[in-house]
Amino acid sequence: MKIAIINGPNLNLLGKRETDIYGNIPFEQFLEELRKKYPQVEFSYYQSNIEGELINELQRVGYDFDGIIFNPAGYTHTSVAIGDTIAAVKTPVIEVHISNVHAREDFRKFSHVSGKSVGSIFGLGLKGYELAVSYFL
Ligand code: DQA
Repeated sequence: MKIAIINGPNLNLLGKRETDIYGNIPFEQFLEELRKKYPQVEFSYYQSNIEGELINELQRVGYDFDGIIFNPAGYTHTSVAIGDTIAAVKTPVIEVHISNVHAREDFRKFSHVSGKSVGSIFGLGLKGYELAVSYFL
């Protein structure tokens, strides 16, 4: 099973960014644990702060991977183009947000991604990524 994890802007700062909201574990550390826990899964990991690069990666993995776990971060709320890409590719996408976007500012309540995804997980911290893996399994 091949699962792609894609993180959007500022998620490279996990562990040192607004730790009260996003926690203090760098994503690479979490990913190492995930790889150990699911040795049968081939994970690819990609992070970018650039919208077009995220689209290129979604297109790259969007036809022959079994699942995509995607946290589009701030682009969730702004990017028509990313929503279009999720609709275009064949691999199912699960949208994950570390924080509970519905308990924060109003602009975070809208997502261009939710309606195009098989499901969305928010507010469960990094555990959300692991729950998405077990869904695909
Ligand atoms: C986020 C929530 C977004 O609203 C925010 O812009 C992020 C992170 C989350 O994982 O909780 O950068 O996607």
